Amino acid sequence: MRLINGRIAAVVAGLVIGMGAAAAQEPIVIKFSHVVAPKTPKGLGADKFKELAEKYTGGKVKVEVYPNSQLYKDKEEMEALQLGAVQMLAPSLAKFGPLGAREFEVFDLPFIFPDRNALAKITKGPVGKDLFKKLESKGITGLAYWDNGFKIFSANKPIKRPDDMLGLKVRIQSSKVLEAQIKALGAIPQVMAFSEVYQGLQTGVIDSQENTPSNMFTQKFHEVQKNTTVTRHGYIGYAVIVNKKFWDGLPGDIRTQLDKAMDEATDYANSVSKQENDEALAEIKKSGKTEVYEMTDADKAAWLKALKPVHKEMTSRIGKETVDAVYRELGLTN
Ligand code: LMR
Repeated sequence: MRLINGRIAAVVAGLVIGMGAAAAQEPIVIKFSHVVAPKTPKGLGADKFKELAEKYTGGKVKVEVYPNSQLYKDKEEMEALQLGAVQMLAPSLAKFGPLGAREFEVFDLPFIFPDRNALAKITKGPVGKDLFKKLESKGITGLAYWDNGFKIFSANKPIKRPDDMLGLKVRIQSSKVLEAQIKALGAIPQVMAFSEVYQGLQTGVIDSQENTPSNMFTQKFHEVQKNTTVTRHGYIGYAVIVNKKFWDGLPGDIRTQLDKAMDEATDYANSVSKQENDEALAEIKKSGKTEVYEMTDADKAAWLKALKPVHKEMTSRIGKETVDAVYRELGLTN
């Protein structure tokens, strides 16, 4: 009897050890959800992060990338991250207001960044770091900023000057600054999830939208908009964010490797973003489905005049400290 008990104990012990070994081999899974197509700056960045994270951790981490709102739409993905249903996202900087991080809306101020170098001064400098600190209390850790590009407007009528936007229903991301921007044009802003924009344009629920050429082309918005104007009036970029509890709970050596993978994926995403947008704009033009208008200097002056007041109007919403810090870094005067 004692022998049998001994054998049972040995078998049970063996099973437990076996199970322990199996559990130890289970990779840590990072679900990375996003709303755009794989062949966009963000899609390419996410895939690069997956490749490098799995390589540098020797397979101890598995990254599952879910593009095109497959798992969650804009608003739900933020909730899913906070609940821990997904571990990583890269929402547009225009989508942090509803979370209570209004300072991120500074990126939505029209014509604030003259070019990508100016932008990098903010995302790579103290302002970018300070903005990430605002996320900690919401259970979110900011890891990196990824570029997309400058926005252009489209509609089913020529829009050369701000007046041409009068009365149009324009889809916007969930940012109060974007709301103010559209109102400044005498148009009607309508917040809508990215995944619903194509259908909204097709059915006439909305008349117009603003996005980067890369997003427009990969979602085929140009096929349901007769006119496009290369306004470059604002910027779309991303904050790559993780669930803080998940991130803090990772073994230190794994986190170090993931940081390395993220740094390299960031350089990669930022290095392809301009080209992806240039190519997308060329494809949009080539498609012949929408007429693309390039602004004259006089057009640009008119857009600037119509939209610049939004900076002052929205300073208290964003926070004076943040707006002043960006102005200072960029050497802007009022
Ligand atoms: C949008 O919702 O228009 C875009 O910001 C989507 C994205 O993530 O690029």
